[in-house]
Order: sequence, then C-alpha cells, then structure tokens
Amino acid sequence: MTGNEVRSIFLNFFAKHGHKIVKSSPLLPANDPTLLFTNAGMNQFKDVFLGAETRDYKRATTSQKCVRAGGKHNDLDEVGKTARHHTFFEMLGNFSFGDYFKEDAIRFAWDLLVNEYKLDPKRLWFSVFAGDAEVSADDEAVELWVKAGAPRERVLKFGRKDNFWQMGETGPCGPCSEIHYYLGENPEDPAFNKAEYVNGDGDDTVEIWNLVFMQYNRQEIAPGQYKLDPLPAPSVDTGAGLERVTAVLQGVKTNYDTDLIKPIIEFVAKLAGKEYKAQTQEGFAMRVVADHARATTFSIADGIMPGNEGRNYVLRKIMRRAIYNGRENLGFNGEFFYKVCEFVIDFMKDAYPELEAQRSYIEKMVRLEEKRFGATLTVGLKKLEDLVNANKDEQTGKAILSASSLAKLYDTYGVPIDLMYVVLIQGKHSIT
Ligand code: SER
Repeated sequence: MTGNEVRSIFLNFFAKHGHKIVKSSPLLPANDPTLLFTNAGMNQFKDVFLGAETRDYKRATTSQKCVRAGGKHNDLDEVGKTARHHTFFEMLGNFSFGDYFKEDAIRFAWDLLVNEYKLDPKRLWFSVFAGDAEVSADDEAVELWVKAGAPRERVLKFGRKDNFWQMGETGPCGPCSEIHYYLGENPEDPAFNKAEYVNGDGDDTVEIWNLVFMQYNRQEIAPGQYKLDPLPAPSVDTGAGLERVTAVLQGVKTNYDTDLIKPIIEFVAKLAGKEYKAQTQEGFAMRVVADHARATTFSIADGIMPGNEGRNYVLRKIMRRAIYNGRENLGFNGEFFYKVCEFVIDFMKDAYPELEAQRSYIEKMVRLEEKRFGATLTVGLKKLEDLVNANKDEQTGKAILSASSLAKLYDTYGVPIDLMYVVLIQGKHSIT
C-alpha cells in the first residue's frame, strides 16, 4: 500500500461514515497568536470546538499539514536521530463537533485499523487516561475498547503526560486514548514489561493514532493559573501521523524508509554523489536535509518566510540546520538546498497543488537564504572551529566554551547563535 493510498483510504473511510473531507489549513495559523505553526489537525477547528463558530457539517476528516518545531510541541532537535520525529508531517484526523463521542470514535478507529488497513489486532495496544486530581480516570474508554474487540489486558492506563491532550497552555483539551503498534518479532512474548514497553520511545512500538475526547476549555484566570470549563458539547479530535501509519503498513522500521520520504533522501544522496546508509553521519544528514526540505517547501508555500523573529526565525533555523548539515556532512559546496525543495514540489504537488503554484517563489526564497547563510558559514564556521580546537580536552575531544567567547563570535563575525548551537550540540561540546 503506498503512502498516498494510506491517506486516501483514511479520508474515504470517514467520508463513508458521514464526514466531510476538509482541505488542510495552511501552516501559517489563521488568527491564532498562541501558535507558531499549525501543529495539529484540530487547529483549524479550535473555535468550532469552543462553540464560537459553526460550520455546515458536524463531522469532518482531514489530512493536515503540520510543523512541530518551536512552541509546546517541538521536535526539531530530534529530527534525523530518531525513527519517527519530523519537523513537517501530515496528520490524518476525524472530528466530531458535538455529534458522536467516545463510543463511535473508538469503534471507527478499530474498524479502520483492523478491517480496512488489515492490521493484526494482536499487535495493537491501547492507552487511556489514568485520572488525577483534576479529571477522573477514563474507565469508560477501557470498556469501549473491550467492546470494540480489544483484549482487556491490552488497554493500559497512563497519566497526564501521555493521555491528556491540549493544544497549548490554553484552549480545547481532554483525556485521550492512544493506539500503539508493536513492530517486534513476537507480539505474544510474555517476557516484556508491557506498560513501559508499549509507552516507551523504542523503535519496536510506535504510537500510530491519538483519539482526543475533547471535553474542556482550559483558560488562564491569573498568570500561570488555569481552570477547566466544560465545552458546549463533548467532541472528538483524532490524529494519526501519516508517515507512521505508512511505515507500519509498509513493514519498514522508520518513517524515513517509507515511500513518502525515502525518494527525497535518495534524491539528496544522488545530488551528493553518495549512497544512503542509515547508521552513518551522512545518513543522519540526509534525513535532516530531506525532512527540513519538506518543512521549508511547505512553509514558504504557505507564506512563512525565514526571518529573525517568531515563526520566521524557527523556519530560518530549520533551513540553516539543513544547509549546515548538507555542507558539513555531505560535501555540498554551493547552493543545493533549493534543488531538494524543488524535488519536494515535484514529488508532493499532486496531493498539495499549492506547491506548484508557488514554485518560483519557493526557489527564489530558498536560494536567497542559502546565499546569505553560505557567506556567513564560510567565515564563521572556521572561527568557531578554531575556538573549539583551542578549548578541546585532549582526552575526551570535547570542548567547554565560555558564553562570552561565543558572544564575541556573534558580534564580530555574525555567526548565528542557532548555528553555534547546532555545531556544539552535534559535537557534544558544552558552554559555561
Ligand atoms: N490533537 C491530537 C494530537 O495532535 C489528536 O489529533 O495528537
């Protein structure tokens, strides 16, 4: 099953069950200063959940463009290192605005996973909210999973960190129930510690879908003090990472090996005249470049520019992390990143026609940033390297640099702070 098929099967399944297929909203959040980027499928429906806006439908399904870099949900530093973190990803979701609630949300999820995608139920695990002083345990969800077909011992309870979802410090929120998929050899192995295992970050289990039972609006009543008010009507917000579901269905260990991302990595490898080997510094850099090219292409297409503040600065960091890694680890000397972004346009324009419409603009903006950053890199990196070498511990190879010497590099040579950060983190150096 291709990634494109995974996306269309999801949307068509929910359309068949009375959901309107709604277009992804742009990555630039409309009228929401609390957000840097659109980071979840529910963002465009926030006011509908709150009862401040009505639509002519009560059920919707989307494949939403998301960026999680900066703000409450920030994965930037993990990208390239782990099997499943991205800056840009697509989130599949189904939504109910005061229409169906927990029972149908759970039934739909089971039906789609087991009967449409034909996932082996023996490999599925479920988690629900364990309860705390503010919101009680979601025992109802346990019973509903059992009713849908899950063995009771596969429904586990976890706390707020894992099973209570909120978009930011304020806004609609509620207890959630995650679905995890076991990728290992033997799904019935009794030997492992199930709770830790299912909820761990290991590459053997992957969270594939989060069902949020939206019930509350979290509001700030005094600085740092919040209260939960019930929403006008209990609602549903779900999110399944397309890249993760595709990885599971294609039987590959990482999202980067799916047909949604691998062709971009292969393009980068070919451009660099190298072979992609996952477990190398070059492999890491290729993943970073491929991931960041997606975020860059989609962000610029949606009107976000690299700049010095807020989301513009986050985009600049993403672009510079990619350009730095391409030059440092893949041997690119001149401008290369805009070519990767052009490939992303060609590769994804059928699902997202706005990319083609913005092609020349995207190319121009990326080249401009590459040119500007390239000049800084050549001089600045040499100075940073000299500084690292002068402060290196011979035994460990790690340097400890003073903040004032770094500030001087910034003042004198304009070496960007985020670049210093990338170089120092990757070299495991530290700052006093
Ligand atoms: N909003 C939830 C999430 O992002 C479900 O869509 O995980």
